Amino acid sequence: MKIGVYQNDPEFGQVDKNIRRAIADLDTIEADLMVLPELFNTGYQFISKEEVFGLAEEIPSGKTCRAMIEYAAAKNIFLVFGLAERVRDKAFNSAVIVGPKGYIGRYRKSHLFLEETFFFQPGDTGFRVFDIGWANVGIMICFDWWFPESARVLALKGADIICHPANLVLPSCQQAMAIRSLENGVFSATANRVGTEARGGKEPLIFTGESQILNHRGDMLTCLEKNKTGICVVDVDVKTARDKSITPLNDRFQDRRPELYKRLIDTT
Ligand code: ACM
Repeated sequence: MKIGVYQNDPEFGQVDKNIRRAIADLDTIEADLMVLPELFNTGYQFISKEEVFGLAEEIPSGKTCRAMIEYAAAKNIFLVFGLAERVRDKAFNSAVIVGPKGYIGRYRKSHLFLEETFFFQPGDTGFRVFDIGWANVGIMICFDWWFPESARVLALKGADIICHPANLVLPSCQQAMAIRSLENGVFSATANRVGTEARGGKEPLIFTGESQILNHRGDMLTCLEKNKTGICVVDVDVKTARDKSITPLNDRFQDRRPELYKRLIDTT
């Protein structure tokens, strides 16, 4: 199946324009599943809670979800994208998966980065895997990459591919994801953004591009540029990720020794 990543440079707060641009760009390719960046519709660097609430939307009734649901049905495609979610007086940094038949599910970012902790609640969904028929799709968001448990839990829950909307500013994620893919035997699709935001007199944030798709051995299948928007698609069978063997006598999951580390994970 054809899987792709979309790398954008959104205009902060210009939700309609950012959605329109994304859809126009998605229209230039053929794919079965596309991953878009974190907060693809709003931009990243919020300066107040009021601003977050003004731009956050309910899922799936908000305008971004509605536009993406309509587009996914028309284009016969699955889409994973990040947006700010409003739930009564709370906001989450969330990602949504939609498909040809409509809304499928959401994930709320577990590990908040820097000032996100001022504006968003820590995610309460846990890590989720969605069965879309030809693949089991796990979702994590940006800084979740720093915590290997994120990808491990998704893999243990049966993900064939980890869709990873991101707005990366730290180096090393792209290399780390190669290890996440290798150690878990999962495909990964990191959709990052480019550009700089320096809002409200804050330190500039420079987004690092290089969106990538990796196979279940950690090999790079495709990578976008550091400073340019872009879109790319690869043709892969992600079900090959279901073979977890390392050697004829070793297996990524069966050789684990959870009795040696389960207590540590449970208690710290
Ligand atoms: C990040 O989590 N957006 C760095």
